[in-house]
Amino acid sequence: MTEHAKLVYNGNSIDLPLVEGSEGEMAIDITKLRSETGLVTLDYGFANTGSCLSEITFMDGEKGILRYRGIPVEQLAEHSTFKETSYLLINGCLPSQEELTEFSVLLNDHSLVHEDMQIFYANYPRQSHPMGILSSMVNALRSFYPALQITEEEINMTVTRLLSKIRTMAAMSYKFSRGHKVVYPRPDLSYCANFLNMMFDTPVKPYEIDEDVVQALNVFWILHADHEQNCSTSAVRIVGSGRVNLYAAISAGIAALWGPLHGGANQAVIEMLMDIHASGGDLKTMVKRAKDPNDPFRLMGFGHRVYKTYDPRAKIMKAMCDKILKKLKIVDPLLDLAKRLEEIALSDAYFVDRNLYPNIDFYSGIVLRAIGIPTNMFTVMFAIGRLPGWIAQWKESIDDPRWKLSRPRQIYTGPKQTDYVPIKKRDARKN
Ligand code: ACO
Repeated sequence: MTEHAKLVYNGNSIDLPLVEGSEGEMAIDITKLRSETGLVTLDYGFANTGSCLSEITFMDGEKGILRYRGIPVEQLAEHSTFKETSYLLINGCLPSQEELTEFSVLLNDHSLVHEDMQIFYANYPRQSHPMGILSSMVNALRSFYPALQITEEEINMTVTRLLSKIRTMAAMSYKFSRGHKVVYPRPDLSYCANFLNMMFDTPVKPYEIDEDVVQALNVFWILHADHEQNCSTSAVRIVGSGRVNLYAAISAGIAALWGPLHGGANQAVIEMLMDIHASGGDLKTMVKRAKDPNDPFRLMGFGHRVYKTYDPRAKIMKAMCDKILKKLKIVDPLLDLAKRLEEIALSDAYFVDRNLYPNIDFYSGIVLRAIGIPTNMFTVMFAIGRLPGWIAQWKESIDDPRWKLSRPRQIYTGPKQTDYVPIKKRDARKN
């Protein structure tokens, strides 16, 4: 097989090496393109650009495959916990019992958030979006805790601190938004149960832990744990490439995730379904609007940059909706609407021709609603789930000797050199 690709341009040519991934994916290595030819590539949205070599997550968008460190996400959702999956992503392999216990102890030890940080929470306007609060509070951690990240031990400390505190901080922002007293983490509870307890326990109504709800949250977070070089993960890698501290890089990832085309879609889906429900369930008009090129409306929770078939995570999430609603004896009209909307879209040539299928966000909001998470916290739930992936990707970068400051080029299309004209002359010309 050829090991090069030949690029012919303006009567010249260059041989560019091919790189092959462990699953047979091929790439053209253009590292030397600019220095040897003066050319750069142009690739909006980086849809054709590999930004790194990575051993963390494999996805095949045509076949609907997603694996973390080689393990299919379906197996992890069925057998693992979010804590164990986080360990797998960050450390590269599943932990032994001893390693998992040690990891749990560290997570417990670092679950408290500095009391002084409560001043910030107390002073945010009540209607602030929890994603804005989370992004700035994660960045603020650097002022309260050292960002030690030289030795492996220091990195582990910073990483566990972040993993543990993020759920305390997310629950704190909810409590403050309600004007309730903060509930502190409990060392006797698992990662997911601890979060639920900090969210929903009150002095007047103690939170009763339901193992099925805990399991649903484990699955929700496992399914979100990594998704290779998506928008927010690329933000973490790009911001991290300036060698900022981990908290700052993760804060950038949270900000990137907030957008409705990315993680913010889970909130947008529920708002869309609620609008449809409020307007009497008119699905056909929504589908018609989504297809109209002159209408900016899109069917939220549909389509994906990489998946050109059914998102494997959406399959699991859809089954989870049925399971958890049945268990909690909830009848949610939005689930029925979502299923009917999916049916209409998947039998419509517009969606079929463009390979637009439900993505993870289409059904995830219904699971979150069922377990009591308010709509404006949906993307925060996504961020907690994605944290181990962001950390794993950041760790992989810092260990990579080829890690360079991210600095894409551009093709300048503005005016050619023009002379400065003093303001009096400019005004005189106008008049
Ligand atoms: N509804 C209607 N039409 C759509 C949708 C949608 N949800 N998604 C894509 N299309 C259409 C586009 O209009 C375009 O049509 P055209 O070829 O006639 O111009 C075609 O499908 C291709 O769409 P692009 O925007 O070029 O595809 P891209 O890969 O850039 O977009 C994205 C992917 C942003 C996810 C898009 O599908 C979308 O906006 N979906 C809705 C938002 C959403 O659910 N985001 C969550 C994604 S998963 C995640 O990030 C966690």
